[in-house]
Amino acid sequence: MNDRDSRIKSPLREVRTVSIVGTGSYAPERVLTNADLEKMVETTDEWIVTRTGMKERRIARPDEFTSDMAVQAARRAMDQAGIQPTDIDMILVATISPDMVFPNTGCFVQNKLGATKAFCLDVEAACSGFLYGMEVGRQFVASGAINTALIIGAEKLSCITDWQDRGTCVLFGDGAGAVILQARGARHGILSTVLGSDGTLAELLMLPGGGSRNPASEQTVKDRLHYMKMSGREVFKHAVTKMVQAAKDALERCGLTIDDVDCIIPHQANRRIIEAIGQRLGAPLEKYFINIEKYGNMSAASVVVALDEAVQCGHVKKGDIVLMIAFGGGFTWGASVLEWTK
Ligand code: UT7
Repeated sequence: MNDRDSRIKSPLREVRTVSIVGTGSYAPERVLTNADLEKMVETTDEWIVTRTGMKERRIARPDEFTSDMAVQAARRAMDQAGIQPTDIDMILVATISPDMVFPNTGCFVQNKLGATKAFCLDVEAACSGFLYGMEVGRQFVASGAINTALIIGAEKLSCITDWQDRGTCVLFGDGAGAVILQARGARHGILSTVLGSDGTLAELLMLPGGGSRNPASEQTVKDRLHYMKMSGREVFKHAVTKMVQAAKDALERCGLTIDDVDCIIPHQANRRIIEAIGQRLGAPLEKYFINIEKYGNMSAASVVVALDEAVQCGHVKKGDIVLMIAFGGGFTWGASVLEWTK
């Protein structure tokens, strides 16, 4: 080894165990109930509750953007982790409802937090976005490239929801959740993550307007292409099979079985989807943390808000094995297994 080789010490050769060291979430004040929706479209509380399990959802103020909700959640996660904005090396926002097409929402969050040292990016993997983002952040911290990652799932879906389409408008809500990732010497932390995508089914769940395929025009607005479109029944089928397989794969990868899992945090798209997954995975429903009745589907924010609430209410405790699973447009899906180390 020559002198230069002996001096080189690349931090990227490290592989460190990464843990979630703080969580936070934020829900806007305004509550939109099923009764409110009955006045807006031809629907009933009974239909919404029996088909989805949803009772109400939150709607952000017109002057409250995705980045504002992200910042609220981030501040709570930072408090929990005991860190300052200037400790953050990376801000990643998972969202399908960014403040703008560009710059990325992470940059708006950085400015509002004063996290001057951070580099910022968004990840778009629809409802799987938080798990995708957490794995990106974990890799950066595990490699030693950075020490602290702020990973956020934040959505203002109310502005991309077609309030005339009863097939979708009853489903979605606004909110944000955040975690801080660090390597603090824990033995386990995040144990395994499995991610997958199937672009052949992209058109079953999409927002077709405003991109390079259908640039915004009077016609695209008239055709309501700037709102989410979903083939619900098809999406339902794939959501169940993909989440079940991802959960099994993630558990197998870290040598655990479903019986080792103390708490399951599923994407909150439909209570019936969660029940179907429960049956197929063979885990009793008590192990699932479900808050769909309060928030509906918050896409990339759903899993991380549920995680934070599960931690705050003691459903997740130190030493617990937690399984998070998600599915969304793309299609995209993911599952992550971790030992709760806080
Ligand atoms: O987060 C990303 C992933 N998203 C998901 O995983 C969502 C997956 N899909 C679902 O959760 C369900 O498919 C929905 C909740 C979206 C719909 O439930 P469904 O049991 O699949 O209903 P459907 O679409 O098959 O519709 C059944 C009936 C239809 O009427 P007909 O054709 O049987 O007369 C719909 O027009 O229900 C009607 N319908 C409604 N009725 C009252 C659809 N939406 C409504 C509504 N109120 N809001």
